[in-house]
This record gives sequence, C-alpha cells and structure tokens, in this order.
Amino acid sequence: MNTKTDYPPWLNQAVFYQIYPQSFYDTNGDGIGDIPGIIQKLDYLQWLGINAVWVNPCFVSPFQDAGYDVADYYRIAPRYGTNRDLYRLCREAHKRGIKVCLDLVAGHTSIEHPWFKASCRSSRNKYSDRYIWASSAVWGANPPLPMIRGYAERDANYVANFFYFQPALNYGFARPAAEQPWQQPVDAPGPLESRKELNKIMNYWLSHGVDGFRVDMAFSLVKLDPGRKETIKLWREIIQELRTFYPGTIMIAEWGNPEESITAGFDLDFMFHVGVPGYADLLLNEKCFFRRHGGGNIMGFLESYLEQASKTQGKGLISIPSANHDIKRPSSDGRTASDLKVIFTFLLTWPGVPFIYYGDEIGMRYIPGMPSKEGGYTRTGARTPMQWDDGQNAGFSIAGKDRLYLPLDPRQNRPTVKKQAGDTGSLLHHVRKLIALRKNSPALQAVGALIPLQVKNNDRHFAYLRQSGSERFLIALNPSADPSQVRIKGIKTDKLAPQISHGARAYAEGDDIQIDMDGVSYGIFKL
Ligand code: GLC
Ligand code: CA
Repeated sequence: MNTKTDYPPWLNQAVFYQIYPQSFYDTNGDGIGDIPGIIQKLDYLQWLGINAVWVNPCFVSPFQDAGYDVADYYRIAPRYGTNRDLYRLCREAHKRGIKVCLDLVAGHTSIEHPWFKASCRSSRNKYSDRYIWASSAVWGANPPLPMIRGYAERDANYVANFFYFQPALNYGFARPAAEQPWQQPVDAPGPLESRKELNKIMNYWLSHGVDGFRVDMAFSLVKLDPGRKETIKLWREIIQELRTFYPGTIMIAEWGNPEESITAGFDLDFMFHVGVPGYADLLLNEKCFFRRHGGGNIMGFLESYLEQASKTQGKGLISIPSANHDIKRPSSDGRTASDLKVIFTFLLTWPGVPFIYYGDEIGMRYIPGMPSKEGGYTRTGARTPMQWDDGQNAGFSIAGKDRLYLPLDPRQNRPTVKKQAGDTGSLLHHVRKLIALRKNSPALQAVGALIPLQVKNNDRHFAYLRQSGSERFLIALNPSADPSQVRIKGIKTDKLAPQISHGARAYAEGDDIQIDMDGVSYGIFKL
C-alpha cells in the first residue's frame, strides 16, 4: 500500500485482541490470570492470526475499578507478575509478530496513589496542585463537576473523574473562571507537572519494548473544555513529542469521537457504547441490526460511521470492537454461533482496525446477574474467565473454584477453545479464516475503499463492496431470521467467487448482481 497516512502504516493490517488479564490464563494457581499466562497463550493468538494485543491495566492498584485506579504507574501489579514478565511478554510477542499495547489511565489515579496522599495533606507540598481541589470542604463551590467532599485532611474538595476513588489529575481548565481561582489554566505549574509525569510514564514503558497505549478516558483531561479544544491541543503536543523519540508508537483513544481524537493525534478511536451514535444500533439495542427478530437496519450505524470516516480519512482509523470489558458481549440476548458468524463477517471485512474482545472468538457468553467484582457492576458478566478446554475450571486455573477471580459460565456446553479448534465449522475457525482472508487481501484492510450498496428503510440485509486496485470483494449480510434478496444494479462481472459464505448465493444477471440470502446468512465474494 502506498497511500500516505498520518498513522503508522502497519495499522492498515492490524487485527487487535483485547486481554482482560485477570481472566485470561492463570499460571500460578492463585485464581487470577497473569502475564506469564498471556505469554503461554501467545501461540494461540498467533494461530488465530491476530497481530496486536491491548492489555487492560496491569499496574499496582487497590483494584476498586479493576485496575483503572492506578497506585503506581511504573510497577506491574504483583498479582500479574513483575516488570520483567512484562518485558518478556513484549519480546515473546514480537517474536510472533504481535505488538503489545498497554492501558494508560491518564486522567486520574487511585486515592491510594502516593501523589494523591500527599495532595490530601493540609500543608502545601509538591503534589498540592497535582489534582483539582476547590476550597473549602464545608462552603466550597459546587461547579458542574463531580466534587468529593470531606475526604481529605486538606480543607478542600476534589474532582472525581469516574468513581469517587478516582481523583482527576490536574491538567487545568480550558477557560478558568476569574472568580474561581482554583480552576487553573492549562499552562499553570500544576497542570504542566501532570503532563510531564504522563510523558515520563509513556517513555518508561516504550523504552522497555511496549508498542503503544490505549488511553483510558482520553477525552477527559482538560476540564470544562467546550469542543475539547484544549484537550485536543494537549494530546497533539504530547503525541508529537513522543513520536520524535518513538516514531512507531501506536496511540489508541478511548474517546468515542474519532473526529476529535484523531485531530488530537491519536491513530485510532472506537465507535462503541459512548460518544458518537451508531454502535448501539448495530450490536446493543433491542432493535439493533444484528438481531434476528429485532427488525433493525444498518442505517443508524452507517450514517454515523460514514460521517466519521469522511472526517478522518487518511489521518486515522476507526475501530468497531466485538465488545469490551465495559459492555455486553455479542453472545448475549439469545444469539447463537450462527448469528455470531454473521457479526464477525462484518467486523473483519469492515475498514479500520478490528478489535476482538477475548473469548468473543468462541462465543463466550455475557453472564447476566453476576455479583459485582472490582467495580464491575453490570460489566462483570463480560469479564469471566476464558474457557480454554473441558478440564478443571475450563483450563483457566488450577485454583479451587471459590478462589477464581470470577465464576465461570456455568453451562454444561459452554464453548471452549479446545472444542472449537477441533471443529473446522466452529465460530473460532470462522474468525480465523476471516482474519487470514483479511491479511491476504488489501481490499479488506483498513484503507481498502468501502462502497456501501443502497439500503431501503425496511431492508434487513446489508451489502457492500471493498476495493483496492483491481482487487474487489462483495460482502452480503443477512442477520435476520427471514430470507432476503438483494439486487445490485450496474455491476457487471463474470466472476463472483465465494470466499467465506453460508446461505448466500450471488450470481450475475446481465448488468446486475443478484444475491439470494437465507435467514441468518453471509457471503464474501471475490469479483
Ligand atoms: C474507562 C474504562 C472503564 C473504567 C473507566 C474509568 O471507561 O474502560 O473500565 O471504569 O474508564 O477509568
Ligand atoms: Ca495467577
């Protein structure tokens, strides 16, 4: 590919896998997944064909929010192993052509972080302005930001970024109010120090072989920032500087607004459950497109996606993840392996960068009603241990059942890697074939052109072309229970070779293409 882009060109071929480390693979029998466990499973990931991983936070933490409450950015949490294990993970992954991205919680720390403990003191010190404090604890201002009152010895309230125990780091305010002197400008000494620390943290891990970061709540840094203008400026500066030392660094935003985040210098961002609309209409709503009886169509998603894609073209990429640790897995609400095959056919033939959430490749289920663990609440059901085989604890751990990080999917016939690896008709093999096809086909990769074919309001199917040079694919999807027919006018072809398909037949008729589709079917045809 010789298209010039503003992001590392390698990303055009990337297929990511998200690992929630506590639930992936436990090597020392304490019931919690660990970094040596990820290393042991790298061969599996290589077999699957993925070439990058994002690991959820694995740093020292009291784990009130599953590690999104960092207490030491420079140390791997002992329950996951040591820094050396992480360096080894990078080396072993690189040997297999897999990049490693860590989760960078840039906007807040844990209340257990030594910076915050010092910041809580009433005597002025180096960390007094590392967080955002408004005085007084009793009569303090009540700005449109979540303030925590009465926590500290210091006579002031702090701004929380997410949960109360995640105090916001001070990167300043876009337009500090004159009558609110505690709102510091972005170039005040406190905010500048916060930036410097962020730089240091990133440099540290990059210098030890990490390839990049997924930045948690990347949009949240500068407060009361209309249009995120100052936050965008801040990231542009940070990322530019970083790139002078580590040019290939991959920067992934948890932002949910590719137009903004890519302007901020990130290489890619998600369309998912928050931010710009579309993802919920695709996968989550009751009436979403990928639901047999939901009655939904592709329009809501498509319009939003095309708008974002046109605004970010050539500058950055958009990812539509299979799920993540914050939302329901696609295997929920009665979806079966057949439904999931349609979904993955879409995800892996769509432009941008696919992200597969661990276990989705075998159709691991979202478990409703799971008691909350480490601040998971309803998210907990998407965080259960990976199901490797039919052995003890599904091969996840040799610990006693009651010591597992979370209980396993209790079903007798729960899917496992082992079962599906031995069955070429399984979802796992489907995903693997799709990844392989994508790898060998520039038209299906990030920069291949996308030409959506017209859909009418009540259409339950969706078809599109992907194209690069003379290579051209037609993809047709019908997630609904009912058969459907698609007529594509004005595409003359003498070749419609099915690559990966089920229940979909495409043939040329004069200047048109006719596709007959069974209920719950998909087809990728090479033109
Ligand atoms: C992000 C994470 C989520 C976490 C929150 C606070 O949204 O994905 O898991 O709870 O940020 O850090
Ligand atoms: Ca362990």
